[in-house]
Amino acid sequence: MMQVARKGITSAIGSTPLVEMSAFFEGAMFHVFGKLEALNPGGSIKDRPAVKIIERALETGEIRPGWTVIESSSGNMGIGLAQACLYYGLRFICVVDPKVTVQNLRLLRAYRAEIVMVSDPDPLTGEFLQARIDRVRSLLKLIENSFWPDQYSNTYNSIAHYQTMREIVEGLEREPEYLFCATSTCGTLRGCVEYSREHGLLTTVIAVDAEGSVIFGGPKHKRLIPGHGAAVRPRLYQPDLVDRCVHVNDLDCIVGCRRLVMREGILAGGSSGAVLMALDKIKDEIPPGAICVVILPDRGERYIETIYSDDWVQEQFGDVSYLWEDLTERSLISVA
Ligand SMILES: Cc1ncc(COP(=O)(O)O)c(C=O)c1O
Repeated sequence: MMQVARKGITSAIGSTPLVEMSAFFEGAMFHVFGKLEALNPGGSIKDRPAVKIIERALETGEIRPGWTVIESSSGNMGIGLAQACLYYGLRFICVVDPKVTVQNLRLLRAYRAEIVMVSDPDPLTGEFLQARIDRVRSLLKLIENSFWPDQYSNTYNSIAHYQTMREIVEGLEREPEYLFCATSTCGTLRGCVEYSREHGLLTTVIAVDAEGSVIFGGPKHKRLIPGHGAAVRPRLYQPDLVDRCVHVNDLDCIVGCRRLVMREGILAGGSSGAVLMALDKIKDEIPPGAICVVILPDRGERYIETIYSDDWVQEQFGDVSYLWEDLTERSLISVA
């Protein structure tokens, strides 16, 4: 296909590849396609809502070039907003907490984000998230001409993902029978579900949440893998949003990621492992011939010191390599 030159980095967001993955579930009678969101320029699916929210706010006059955008994020949304703010000539302040990885801090600084670190969790809830939101609110009062994208309640977060679902349907030239979607703000999930409903699609949408996250209920507890899951139910959540939710734990994510790179040559982040292991958990219910799409939200490079570090995995879980080393000797494609 001929490549046409486009204008600016934001025009490179979206239209990510949809690739068939035939080796992950070897011998399965259903088909699996991965939507490679790591190929967005900022490295994750969060480029989509970041640019959508900023462009919308510029259109409505809520912000103007030179103004200050302030958001709470320790990861992908911060990076996506930093990128969009640079492009549109906005100052960006990212409110983070001590759980942010050194790599993400460096990336945010490379994108010229100003970092504000909260040192203690909120005394009432014990949550860093609440402490970060409180700091955002106080900065908004202090800084004139400032704007809060508020990814947890901004409907343009979910509207950005109508396009994600549209690309999936156009890529397949039909709707998939199943869509597996990792959730945190519920932006991706809600956007894909609303697009499906508006277009009368028959896709069964499965939300993938972390054990210990409160989005779909269940007891809250500490989680190691960032990305999906939330300690507070986001305002974008709606009770009738999904057909089903599958919970996965930290070790599931690691096993899913390690199998993904070994079997498909795709180096992806923790929530990508999560969606694949969610499919693995319910694979016996998937009818032969069905098309399953898994959205793979971000790059594996951001997890080199954790998920892809043998020492880190050993420290956290002991020797669990037998869970993915079943295929070490096999090549990625079989040559007839
Ligand atoms: C790696 C990763 N996976 C999944 C999600 C969940 O996406 P959403 O916020 O649209 O629910 C996020 C959100 O930040 C993420 O960074």
